[in-house]
Amino acid sequence: MASNEAIRQRDLAVLWHPTTQMKDHEWLPLLPVRSGHGVWLEDMDGKRYIDAISSWWVNLFGHSNKFISAAVSEQAHCLEHVILAGVTHEPAVRLAEKLVAITPPGLDRVFFADSGSSAVEISLKMSFHYWRNTGVEGRNRFVTLSNSYHGDTLGALGVGDAGLFKEAYQPLLMEPIVAPSPDCFALPRDQWDAHASLRLAELRQLLVQHRDEICAMIIEPLIQCAGGMRMYPPSYLTGLRQLCDEFNIHLIADEIAVGFGRAGSMFACEQGEISPDFMCLSKGLTGGYLPMSAVMTSNKVYEAFYDEYTSLRGFLHSHSYTGNALACAAALATMELFEARDVLADNRVLAQQMMDAISPLHEHPHIGDIRQTGMVLAMEMVAQREPMIQYDWKERRGMKVLQYGLQHGVLLRPIGNTVYFMPPYIIQEDEIAQMAKAAMGGIDLATAD
Ligand SMILES: Cc1ncc(COP(=O)(O)O)c(C=O)c1O
Repeated sequence: MASNEAIRQRDLAVLWHPTTQMKDHEWLPLLPVRSGHGVWLEDMDGKRYIDAISSWWVNLFGHSNKFISAAVSEQAHCLEHVILAGVTHEPAVRLAEKLVAITPPGLDRVFFADSGSSAVEISLKMSFHYWRNTGVEGRNRFVTLSNSYHGDTLGALGVGDAGLFKEAYQPLLMEPIVAPSPDCFALPRDQWDAHASLRLAELRQLLVQHRDEICAMIIEPLIQCAGGMRMYPPSYLTGLRQLCDEFNIHLIADEIAVGFGRAGSMFACEQGEISPDFMCLSKGLTGGYLPMSAVMTSNKVYEAFYDEYTSLRGFLHSHSYTGNALACAAALATMELFEARDVLADNRVLAQQMMDAISPLHEHPHIGDIRQTGMVLAMEMVAQREPMIQYDWKERRGMKVLQYGLQHGVLLRPIGNTVYFMPPYIIQEDEIAQMAKAAMGGIDLATAD
């Protein structure tokens, strides 16, 4: 069997990795994974690592989960994939029924796609097209929050505000209206709601100014994940829904990262007691098994497209693997695992264990903020606590944490100076202890000079 080193060399000769400056791999060795079981990944030389980031936030119930694997395997022997235009199959219908049943009220239609970014693209196109179909003219812009991320395809990148990711492509992108994020970074919890109200008031000004140009506002509910796990309270969602109603614009909830329990409730929108007009789902949808996404919307939106073909009101959009039967089987099995036990209640215990495990960091001279929403816990490395001075991103201190983590059997992947945990929901207390120890050791090392 090949060794770590052999695979690395072959890889670097032919592969180009996502979100990576490939030159980094001159000094940062790739991690060649040969297997995964539960929270554990094993490299080609047999060393094991805890997947503390659920493989880019997709895994919910562990790698090689027996139940999901069996469902996918069974499906593979029956029907692996079939075109979903003009054709249907039971796994797609069952999954759509399930999603309608468990998402907030009013989301009664499901459009399948194959990645988070494509779901975002679909929601933007549907919203724009809805206004056109209903005879409302002049609406061709979207409102987004500062520091938001909605994916890397041109449309999704365009409605994000992730500076580094988007700078080079600016001339190709649409220009969103950027509202200030309600991000409560470094604020005590008892000030979060007041902060959110302030941000809503600022948003209202923008909406007054631009009301007739806007199709929709798109948000990552409760946690701006790629933006560094920045968090805000449910009261912002409640206020935002009211504003969208008042100004008659759509609300797109991008729950791609926070849905399926990650933010502490099955869907983050539930905490604000709201239903969006569009909800984008992906990542955890298939338990981290297969690429799939879904856009949920209302029958009201659906009906605005329902007409004779020649009216050209139809939503003429597709991806080849739309409604893939294997992905549907993985998603249905994942939903069954949510029903088999009270996952959200168990996660509250795990979330507390994670917080307890890193408690020494509250006194750390270079940790400026510790925040947690559901199964996401983030720790911010800072040059100085008070007054707070951030490290320059160019120092890339997070990479030292990543390297230390790997040496100590934990796959962490800090975002800039933000070290975070986002583990699968089946992590055990001793594994949390190991994950926390590696993170704290890495933080000590990365902030030592
Ligand atoms: C909130 C959010 N939206 C969209 C995306 C894009 O999803 P994908 O990478 O599957 O295209 C991501 C990915 O991290 C995300 O976190």
